[in-house]
Amino acid sequence: MADKEQKTLFSGIQPTGNIHIGNYLGALKNWVDLQEQYRCIYSIVDLHAITIDQDPKKYQEQIMETAIDILAIGVDPKKATLFVQSKVTQHTELAWMFNTLTPMSELERMTQYKDKSQDHKENINVGLFDYPVLQAADVLLYHAEVVPVGEDQLQHLELSNMIGRKFNNKYGNFFKQIKPVITAGARIMSLTEPDKKMSKSKGEKNYIAIRDSAENIRKKVAHAVTDTGPAVEGKKSLGVNNLFELLSLFSDEKTVAKFETQYNQKTIKYSELKKALAEAIIMTLTPIQKRIKEIETNPKKVKAILDKGAKQAQVIAEKNMADIKKKMGL
Ligand code: TRP
Repeated sequence: MADKEQKTLFSGIQPTGNIHIGNYLGALKNWVDLQEQYRCIYSIVDLHAITIDQDPKKYQEQIMETAIDILAIGVDPKKATLFVQSKVTQHTELAWMFNTLTPMSELERMTQYKDKSQDHKENINVGLFDYPVLQAADVLLYHAEVVPVGEDQLQHLELSNMIGRKFNNKYGNFFKQIKPVITAGARIMSLTEPDKKMSKSKGEKNYIAIRDSAENIRKKVAHAVTDTGPAVEGKKSLGVNNLFELLSLFSDEKTVAKFETQYNQKTIKYSELKKALAEAIIMTLTPIQKRIKEIETNPKKVKAILDKGAKQAQVIAEKNMADIKKKMGL
């Protein structure tokens, strides 16, 4: 293994249950590769997820399930720190300080806030509005410079950088600028509404969860929409485009080339493309599902990993928080 750069990387995932292939390709797969390169800190951001209603009776289970999935995908606690956000209290403490540096107007611009308040009209809470400030605190608390995220999070990271700069100007140089890392597969679209991002909130049929059975995967892919979107002459519809995108991420070049040729010659049968895609997804997910089963037999070990991760994170958080308070005259 090459020497790790000393740079710190931070990323977070919400424990909303049912991690899907959009999360997997857009973030978690990269978490595994990146742990060889950076000092990685990965957080299950339970405080972010409660900005949308969560069932408190099921929440611990969801958090554990998320941890198990992350470990099964290949995040290695010997190489990276994995912890639950609410166990390190400095996140919320720093978020409060950052609140005093963040203009309301900046938060009002955030597209995720606008989208989520549309989707959850019954619960537009201050936490939902303030979500990006807590995210800024997550990253800056550890002086992280590298943050792998999906494309939809870029706006939040720009805001984090703005907050960091404001702090530096007001209280003296302290925070570094964050560099977002966006990778291929960061934008997997819904199987049923291919003009929208794959997401849990759009219902069972629009996503493939990494825990889905082979049978279920075949069914969902078979039902994927192919005929919506602007079928401009010579251009793939959004649904077909998404299937090709998925095929290129789960399958090999030869298979993709074969279907591309058939597409261009207008001999393509979408049922065959879908079969090939479903099998490729199953091939990728089967070993992950096997590891999930293994890890699930030992929940104590998972808890121990999370506890140790929280302790590691706390050490950094306490030190940096002491410096921050000093700079702010607190
Ligand atoms: N907002 C991110 C998402 O929904 C999750 C997240 C919270 C995050 N804190 C973070 C991602 C810090 C990167 C860094 O995907």
